[in-house]
Formats: sequence, C-alpha cells, structure tokens
Amino acid sequence: MPRTPRPLSGHPVMITGAASGIGRSLAQLLSAKGSPVAIADIDETGLKETAASLTGPVLTRVLDVRDAADQRTFADEVHDWLTAPLAAVFNNAGVGVASSVLDAVPEDDEWLRQINFDGVVNGTRAFLPILVEQDHGVIVNTSSVFGLLGMPNQSAYCAAKFAVRGFTDALRQELRGTGVSAVNVHPGGIRTNIARNARVHKDPEGRGRTHQQMAAEFEAATLTTPQKAAEIICRGVEHGKSRILVGPDAYLFDILARVAPTRYYSVIELLERLLRTRNTAGAQS
Ligand SMILES: NC(=O)c1ccc[n+]([C@@H]2O[C@H](COP(=O)([O-])OP(=O)(O)OC[C@H]3O[C@@H](n4cnc5c(N)ncnc54)[C@H](O)[C@@H]3O)[C@@H](O)[C@H]2O)c1
Repeated sequence: MPRTPRPLSGHPVMITGAASGIGRSLAQLLSAKGSPVAIADIDETGLKETAASLTGPVLTRVLDVRDAADQRTFADEVHDWLTAPLAAVFNNAGVGVASSVLDAVPEDDEWLRQINFDGVVNGTRAFLPILVEQDHGVIVNTSSVFGLLGMPNQSAYCAAKFAVRGFTDALRQELRGTGVSAVNVHPGGIRTNIARNARVHKDPEGRGRTHQQMAAEFEAATLTTPQKAAEIICRGVEHGKSRILVGPDAYLFDILARVAPTRYYSVIELLERLLRTRNTAGAQS
C-alpha cells in the first residue's frame, strides 16, 4: 500500500516527556519549523527550560502521564487552544529500571509499567477522540528496540515496550480506512537522561558499578543524539511510516529479531564486549 504523507511542519502537535531528551528535541525541532507545540512533563523545571528554548506558540502543562483523568483534562485544554487540526500526538514520556527478575522490586516495575505503558494508553485514549473528530492526525507512541527483543536486566522495560508495540499495532488496524493513523517508534541507544533517571539498586551484572558508572557506560555506547532522533522520528512520520527505527543499532536489533529470534543475545553480547574494550582502551590512551 502506498504511504500517505503526513506533514508536520507548521501544524500543531502534542508531546509528553518534553522536559528532556527526545521529547525536548522534538519540541525544539517542530517549533523551529513553525508548529505550535503543546508540551507536557512531570518535571516542571525542565519543561520551563524547554518552553524558554522555543520561539513559536507553546502550551506548557505539568502532567503525570499515569493520571488518566488529567490526561483527558489536558486533551480538552489542547482542543480549546488549537487554531488548526492537531497533526500529531507524541506519547513519548518514559523511564527506566535496571534489575534482574530475581532481584526485581515490584514497586519499581509497577512505576515503570504505569508510566511507559499506561501513560501511552492514557495519552492515546485522551487525544484519539480529537483526531477521530478531525478525521486527521497521527498517534506516535514510543516503544524501543527493547520492544523488539527481550534483554537481560530489562524485563519490566521490555514488557512495557512490547506492550506499547502491540497496543499501537492493534490501534493502527482499527484505524484502517480513516484519516487517523498510529505509529510505533523504536529508538536504539539515544544520549539522554534516561539511564541517569532510572531506578537502580545495584549493578545487575554484578560488576560492582555505581548507578553513575552504569549511566556513563550507557551514554558511551549510544550512537544517536536526541536531536538526530527527533529528525528521524519527524521524517518517518511525515513519510507515512507505521514503524520508525531510530539509529543504526535499531536496524541491527530489527534484523536480529528476524534472523535470530532466540539466539540474538549472543551477537549483542559480543558487540557489547567489543564496545566496552574499545571504550576502556580509549579511556587509557
Ligand atoms: N534514550 C534511549 O536510549 C531510549 C531508547 C529507546 C526508547 N527510549 C524512549 O524514549 C522516550 C523518551 O526518553 P528519553 O530517552 O528522552 O529520556 P529522558 O529521561 O531524557 O526523558 C524522559 C522524560 O519523560 C518525563 N517523565 C518521566 N515520568 C513521567 C511522568 N510520570 N509523566 C510525565 N512525564 C514523565 C521525564 O521527566 C523526562 O523529561 C521514553 O519513552 C524512552 O523509554 C529511549
């Protein structure tokens, strides 16, 4: 089927998780292209910083994506604020947890699930009626490469991101034949605050690293900046893609999911070891 282009530049959008990382970069990119942006986040300070970096019209809202009723209230506020059809809803807010299944703290896994999955469902349910009424617009839900493959010490994160993928794929089929569509975004490693803000109680790999060291290692292994990620996501949406892979590592995960659906981790482990050796050698030279 030919893809229907979905122009974003100059058209209003809503973005959650806009106080940092990919969400902030999406807001900055689209605002610079003339889009009015409604931005939401639980972090008021970061959200104000994002708003201050934008030049065009902006609606700023402190919001906990876990709160379904407040997401609906926010959707009403966005509806009243719009002067043109809402082009895209980016359900982007997310958090991390690193733990083995054996050592999992149920409250942490619950916290993650409520933000990374329920938050996406709440945002979709709150904003979908606006798009359906317009018969136009796209729901863009952020999954991950960890929504393509299960990774050790990331069980809660993978479960939530697989759930986002399934939810969004199901929604896309429901919307067939309408002017509304649904997109899954699968970023690889992106240099953001996600690892620093993750809940970690001890090094799940048993290497004795502090949380800070683990976050620094994550950041050193990332291949994509949030600015580049935002460009790829926007281009993918505008080109009418249903599934957007972000970064070269995302393409590798996608291939591995197809060709080595049970043995993929042997390849990933090898690459991780090579990357670690390269970084250690780099730090020593
Ligand atoms: N960085 C990566 O490598 C990577 C890879 C794959 C997927 N992702 C996904 O991309 C999305 C954006 O993450 P990021 O990497 O930019 O991280 P980030 O930590 O830089 O930004 C996440 C934002 O979400 C906000 N947030 C957290 N809990 C919230 C809540 N309850 N309500 C509202 N906002 C909340 C945070 O305050 C923060 O501003 C997430 O869904 C994440 O899972 C990131």
